[in-house]
Amino acid sequence: MHEASWSRADATAVLDSPERRSSQDPNRLWRRVGLKRGDTVVDVGAGSGFYTFPAAARVGPSGRVYAVDVSQDLVELVRERAADRKVRNVEPVLSTPAHIPVEDAVADLALLANVLHGIPPETVDETVRLLRPGGRLVNVDWKKEPSPEGPPVGHRLTAPEATAVLSAHGLIPTDAFDLGPYHYVLVFERPHPPRLPGHLVSAE
Ligand SMILES: C[S@@+](CC[C@H](N)C(=O)[O-])C[C@H]1O[C@@H](n2cnc3c(N)ncnc32)[C@H](O)[C@@H]1O
Repeated sequence: MHEASWSRADATAVLDSPERRSSQDPNRLWRRVGLKRGDTVVDVGAGSGFYTFPAAARVGPSGRVYAVDVSQDLVELVRERAADRKVRNVEPVLSTPAHIPVEDAVADLALLANVLHGIPPETVDETVRLLRPGGRLVNVDWKKEPSPEGPPVGHRLTAPEATAVLSAHGLIPTDAFDLGPYHYVLVFERPHPPRLPGHLVSAE
């Protein structure tokens, strides 16, 4: 099942629900993964900016957060919210499932929050492309068990299934923990390219 593009009505009804702040506190996530001032983040499938704006506050004016989404409606919503809140370090980006119009290797950290179970492999490839070598991908998703909100249990991935998917894109798992009662978090690193031994490097 591929996640469809979300509308403003979906965002206000579901993504902006006040219960989410306690059940999956974005500030707790950013503290736990050590997001710091000056970092560049790409939030892929950013929705209404639930994780984007707390990240922007944490990285500060010397950092930047790209809020990437396939929904024109939600890209506009994030743009309006950034303007209303005078937040200047959020850059909304309209993407397609196969292309994110942001340059290679810009990001210290990429976030996939509540999206991996619904996006195609091309979007994961694009997300990995945006990470610098040594940069981290953070995947937050619903535990595959009944919960008061969230996608149907049958659409969800277990943490080992998500680890297998992301490892198949060349990422190395480095950390795992829970975020509130319903979500797991998996952290991965994009490896540095292997160094060729000196005798294999061309002397041109
Ligand atoms: C469940 S919402 C999650 C929003 C946000 N990450 C959060 O946790 O509040 C999924 C979002 O992913 C977007 N989306 C779906 N497929 C996508 C894709 N292939 N690339 C980027 N965004 C996508 C949808 O438009 C929607 O805004």
